[in-house]
Amino acid sequence: MHGGPNRNMETVNRGIVTMVTAPPILFLLLFFSLHVSGLPGNPRPAPRVHLSFKELLDTRTIRPFSFSFNTSDYRILLMDQDQGRLYLGSREYLVALDMQNINKEPLIIHWPVSSQRKAECRLTGKGGQGECANFVRLIEPWNRTHLYTCGTGAYKPICTFINRGWRAEEYLFRLVPGFVDSGKGKCSYDPHQEAAAALINGNLYAGVHVDFMGTDSAIFRTLGDRPAVRTEQYDSRWLNEPVFVKIQRIPDSTERNDDKLYFFFREKSLDATGGASPTVLARVGRVCLNDDGGQRSLVNKWTTFLKAHLVCSVIGGDDGVETYFHELRDVFIQSTQDERNPVVYAVFSSTGSVFKGSAVCVYSMADIRNVFNGPFSHKQGHSYQWTPYTGKIPYPRPGTCPGGTFTPGFRSTKAFSDQAVNFVRAHPLMYHPVYPVHRRPLVVRTGVDYRFTTIAVDQVDAVDGRYEVLFLGTDRGTVQKVIVLPKDPSTTEELILEEVEVFRIPAPVKTMKISSKRQQLYVSSERGLTQVSLHRCAVYGKACSDCCLARDPYCAWDGENCAWANPLSSY
Ligand SMILES: *[C@@H]1O[C@H](CO)[C@@H](O)[C@H](O)[C@H]1NC(C)=O
Ligand SMILES: *[C@@H]1O[C@H](CO)[C@@H](O)[C@H](O)[C@H]1NC(C)=O
Repeated sequence: MHGGPNRNMETVNRGIVTMVTAPPILFLLLFFSLHVSGLPGNPRPAPRVHLSFKELLDTRTIRPFSFSFNTSDYRILLMDQDQGRLYLGSREYLVALDMQNINKEPLIIHWPVSSQRKAECRLTGKGGQGECANFVRLIEPWNRTHLYTCGTGAYKPICTFINRGWRAEEYLFRLVPGFVDSGKGKCSYDPHQEAAAALINGNLYAGVHVDFMGTDSAIFRTLGDRPAVRTEQYDSRWLNEPVFVKIQRIPDSTERNDDKLYFFFREKSLDATGGASPTVLARVGRVCLNDDGGQRSLVNKWTTFLKAHLVCSVIGGDDGVETYFHELRDVFIQSTQDERNPVVYAVFSSTGSVFKGSAVCVYSMADIRNVFNGPFSHKQGHSYQWTPYTGKIPYPRPGTCPGGTFTPGFRSTKAFSDQAVNFVRAHPLMYHPVYPVHRRPLVVRTGVDYRFTTIAVDQVDAVDGRYEVLFLGTDRGTVQKVIVLPKDPSTTEELILEEVEVFRIPAPVKTMKISSKRQQLYVSSERGLTQVSLHRCAVYGKACSDCCLARDPYCAWDGENCAWANPLSSY
């Protein structure tokens, strides 16, 4: 792949091979502070390079969005690779940005609520912290020329279309005049409530709170030609005060009727008794995209809804105590050649004030499907333990889609038997949990004074192989760039290549989007948005050895400098 005179040099520069050039002791001193934190045997790695916001600016590898207007809550980011635009949704504003340079001629839509609506909102006693405004909570592609967007509308969610034209050169970005859709079931009322949504084949699937009080949470399907369907209302077996993190379509087979929607969330545990059991659990759930609800029961409710526990834990120390990370924060789905088997990266933090920690766990779709194909969880009465259900399981097996590979005889979920439908209603939870790949986290951070909030992953092809580079946003406004290398068959070694302060005003990272094509990361917080290059090789130093020791898979010594090794440039 990399030809030319520097070929051998590059091979040495990229990654593991470098180890032989540095004596092991020196190597340890360079890369690890040897403090042993909460989990013995798990040294806390220190970043190779730490850059303050100002130092980062000096590298000319970032651009903070500097257009000033009165907004906040830069939460919603949507990348449009075709038009080369990044769409931003914040408080009362929608902005179309140039992905190459987010400060170049942004197109701005002001989308406030009327002063009458604002007044009505205040009359209900809401808005003590400025919530009586339109917080944009959803921007999804609708068709070649239009986007669909929703906002909280001062506790009365609203949606509409945005015309963005056929091509970026048209500089078109405006709301479709006179059109307002109800946002109920698409967008939460309360801007503090997290939601997740995806627009698929003209249908909007959203995990939201659907009432003014914020007590009725559901996974909703609205818009489009399929019937509106939701999760069972006020049934804590289905959803128990959930916080939705991510929704994504993942095909299960080549048969389109088998297509499923997977959603990742955390929720209150039903068994939280104040004792040893956790109060919050991470979940993966799914429904069939072609679920149209039941005929006699579960009318307009999902009849294929199932969920499972996502485990992320580590056994630490000599006492072998298992530390669990339950608070699912963010999910990044890395696509692969096989669209049925993307890799699921998830960021967790620990609950409770006792110790502050985070972890990254990786899950395979094969493991997730195995759990959904396994036993259902069953509980007789409230005082009993969960057990695997051993009775007769109705046909088609609950969770199977109509018209799919194993159910060609069923045209719709309305044709499912009452037993099958009632079984799902009472048994939405799988018995086995989903464990991460290798049964342990990829990254663990304990004994530090920050938590991870977000994750994005890039695949980098270097001469000595493919690297998965993790970008981890923190609650202190930084992004860490991390690689994990195999050390011997059973252990791995984590390297924090850099930690950079991405905001002028430090604030927890809220949303991150990555574009490998443009080699950029877009990072937002309550107060701002910043575009950060995936690499700044020059900071590692001016000498070949500095470049080598950095072991950053993006960088290679080109004979004069430590520079980005663009895999395309050597063709
Ligand atoms: C900015 O918007 C907030 C919320 O709508 C409002 O309270 C504040 O007065 C505005 N500030 C300026 C300078 O207009
Ligand atoms: C896209 O959808 C909008 C809103 O429904 C419609 O007005 C427009 O004609 C559509 N454009 C195309 C290219 O289909």
